[in-house]
Amino acid sequence: MKQGIVVIGSANYDFVYRVAHIPRPGETIIAKERMTNPGGKGANQAVAAARAGGIVHFIACVGKDSQGERLLESMGSSGVKGSGIRILEDQPTGMANIYVSDDGENCILVLPGANEKVDIALLDEQDELLRNGQIVVCQLEIPLPTVCEALKRAHAYGAVTVLNPSPVQLLPDELLQCVDILIPNETEMAALIGHTPSDEELKAYAVQKQIGTIVLTLGGRGCCIVTKDQVTYLPCRSIEAVDTTGAGDTFLGALATRLGERYSIEEAAQFAMAASAITVSRIGAQQAMPYRAEIPQGITPDLPTT
Ligand code: RIB
Repeated sequence: MKQGIVVIGSANYDFVYRVAHIPRPGETIIAKERMTNPGGKGANQAVAAARAGGIVHFIACVGKDSQGERLLESMGSSGVKGSGIRILEDQPTGMANIYVSDDGENCILVLPGANEKVDIALLDEQDELLRNGQIVVCQLEIPLPTVCEALKRAHAYGAVTVLNPSPVQLLPDELLQCVDILIPNETEMAALIGHTPSDEELKAYAVQKQIGTIVLTLGGRGCCIVTKDQVTYLPCRSIEAVDTTGAGDTFLGALATRLGERYSIEEAAQFAMAASAITVSRIGAQQAMPYRAEIPQGITPDLPTT
């Protein structure tokens, strides 16, 4: 029987700089402090899903260095199963420089390192995990051919396939056709379509690209769920953001866990918004992510007063 969530993706060691504002081109600014944290979109999503209560396997590469060790420790202590992680002698662990401004916004620069080696040979080695996964999740911080192959196989094996198109790039139709749930933010959605889409254009995109469902995250405004027939807006609780790093990853991981428990996509999205509200209230990526007991179950969102 198919069981659990399989995440194929990146693991980065994050260097996080607190700054008054995100530097503009040509500008030099002074940081207030620097922290280092385990991160990377793939690892973050795996950790978020495991902490939310999912059985999670992670397929990835890290370097044989102290950053890789710290990532393995963070994932292991969160309950992520790491038999699919390759430790490479000749590659450094992926790294990210993250600027977090006083208003909680961020800007991220990634140096892939070992993430570039998440290749089809690794998928072959870990094919059993892909065959058995109930939900298979990818992002775009590893080579695109690997993402295409992973989701193509998972789709053929009958898993629910989830793609977070981040960092955004143009995607082949053959890939999108294998995606059951696409989870972009507003910037990524606009980049994929070519402009900020209307609700009608969102539905038309889902039909044209044969994507089952699009869950468009809207930051502090919640999310919307797009199918070929309808667009449903789900508002979220208003919360003061301290650091939005990893908020989207928490959303995705918690959503995958809840879907694996056979909740509807709407209920899963409510759970995921509650989880990411906790992440943005704390500093960092993985260390900010909540465990299941902290996440309100069946929350009622605060509806905006108009
Ligand atoms: O989504 C947040 C993550 O993006 C960070 O942890 C960073 O490593 C980059 O991958």
